[in-house]
Amino acid sequence: MLRLIVIVIALLSFGCSNQNKQETKPDIISLVSQQMEYAVQLADQFKDSVLVAPRTTENDKLKLVRARDWTSGFFAGNLWMVYDLTGDEKWKERAIEYTLPLEQEQWDGGTHDLGFKMFNSFGKAYQFTGNETYKNVVIQSAKTLATRFNPNVGCIRSWDHNADKWDFPVIIDNMMNLEMLMWAAKETGNDTLRQIAISHAQTTSKNHFRDDNSSYHVIDYNPETGEVENRNTHQGYSDESAWARGQAWGLYGFTMMYRETGMEEFLVQAEKIAEFILNQKGIKEGQIPYWDFNAPNIPNEPYDASAAAIIVSALYELSTYSNNGNEYKEVAGRLFDTLSSPEFLATVQEKQGFLLKHSTGHLPGGSEIDVPLVYADYYFLESIIKKKNMEKNE
Ligand code: GLY
Repeated sequence: MLRLIVIVIALLSFGCSNQNKQETKPDIISLVSQQMEYAVQLADQFKDSVLVAPRTTENDKLKLVRARDWTSGFFAGNLWMVYDLTGDEKWKERAIEYTLPLEQEQWDGGTHDLGFKMFNSFGKAYQFTGNETYKNVVIQSAKTLATRFNPNVGCIRSWDHNADKWDFPVIIDNMMNLEMLMWAAKETGNDTLRQIAISHAQTTSKNHFRDDNSSYHVIDYNPETGEVENRNTHQGYSDESAWARGQAWGLYGFTMMYRETGMEEFLVQAEKIAEFILNQKGIKEGQIPYWDFNAPNIPNEPYDASAAAIIVSALYELSTYSNNGNEYKEVAGRLFDTLSSPEFLATVQEKQGFLLKHSTGHLPGGSEIDVPLVYADYYFLESIIKKKNMEKNE
């Protein structure tokens, strides 16, 4: 009799924990797809205008952007990822609708943000449909991006603005645009694109980092000699501070470059950045970074959930390459749990359809402080996918 009771209890508790397990995973997917349905409903109201994608909120109102904005590709990318997560064909249709308006951007040589714009939208469109038209748009985008490469410097130029201040500014964020070059090189056999990406990453590794493995935001080069002229910030607290999202872009960028090239030096650089980030107060415990790791009034400073989401996505990937993988995965898991908590994750129909609350875009510029940002959602969705895939392979 006792044995029977024990078996019944064991079966019941197995049933419960199994049920819990099954509930946790679909829950977040169901929540994000419900919220994205709301987001699309709101964005659809601007369909006949020049505004192509939501970016953030301003005074709690939805703010959308034109195709030329650096964030224009993230919303389409988000829709493609919800398609990936749910397998529901309706998302594919919506993702295509929000991808196509960006097509002309493939020719815009006035920006380094082509990877963000075109790889996240048309790159995913090709990945999920196999449609060669989309592939050709990405290849052209990569060629256009490559026109900004200066062989004297060994880097792609980031910004054209502030020409009175900088001769040839390269920002750490620019590491992210190299993925599209690596992809286009593989697809076309154009090795120049690959060499440009490697040169940019190597030059960044050499000049962007301090002894403590934190990075500067902007390095200004002499375009004739390639010498470093200035080390500055634009969106961080000070030239010598560690702007949180900048550290996140670096971590993600070097992890990706290791994946794409297998070059050990990029893995080492990614691990050094991870060491810096994980040593910042609270990160190992899963606390979301403030907008700058050296912001003067911590803990009374705005968070940057976008930095956290980028770090989570990067750490999940880096954990699969590094001997420190277990620690990276654990920290990523803790940060992910914090992002998924009610403090950071919006409820359905809240925050104009964005997923994450509490990001900071450009505090020194006085804009996008403690708001939702479409790219925070992008890297959060990517983290959900990576987490799900890792759990599947366990
Ligand atoms: N690439 C611009 C930013 O991170 O704000």
